[in-house]
Amino acid sequence: MHSIGYRANSLLTLAVTILAFLCIFASFSDTLSRPNPTVDIKVVSFDGFMKSKDGDDGVSMTLKVEANLSSLFTWNTKQVFAFVAAEYETPQNSVNQISVWDHIIESKKDADIQVTFRNKYPIFDQGSNLRGTEFNLTLHWHVMPKTGMMFTGLSIIPGHRFPDKYI
Ligand SMILES: *[C@@H]1O[C@H](CO)[C@@H](O)[C@H](O)[C@H]1NC(C)=O
Ligand SMILES: *[C@@H]1O[C@H](CO)[C@@H](O)[C@H](O)[C@H]1NC(C)=O
Repeated sequence: MHSIGYRANSLLTLAVTILAFLCIFASFSDTLSRPNPTVDIKVVSFDGFMKSKDGDDGVSMTLKVEANLSSLFTWNTKQVFAFVAAEYETPQNSVNQISVWDHIIESKKDADIQVTFRNKYPIFDQGSNLRGTEFNLTLHWHVMPKTGMMFTGLSIIPGHRFPDKYI
């Protein structure tokens, strides 16, 4: 006959083992799913473009984002942090990234994004490099699972251009 303490102990061991397997399975099944978000980002208008007192270019623009991120959600997804950035090259830096919008998506039903907005943070370049400069609009996502590793991804919409003149 086993003592109660021994039984309780082996039950606990079994529970911990099952839990460990569930966690491994959860993160494994995440790596198997192939998310295929659809993303489109358009510049609706440039609303302001000027040089500040310090000589830095500042721009504000209205963007329209249409994205379906629902395929990022599995039963193991806790939440998705999404942000849109304008990315461009300057002589000083090969990549300048300025976040213009961000959002935390808590559930699959909120993952269909249709928004038009003016950039939440004004874009200020460190210098006056923006006139006529090409830029990419990029949607980044950080997927936080309930268990397992966070993973990230992005979708690049290239071929945008800042105005040639201050407005
Ligand atoms: C979003 O994507 C999911 C899966 O890829 C699809 O089932 C769903 O119909 C899409 N939603 C919309 C509004 O297009
Ligand atoms: C913009 O996107 C293009 C095509 O994906 C890429 O070649 C280029 O390096 C990107 N530019 C920046 C500044 O990220």
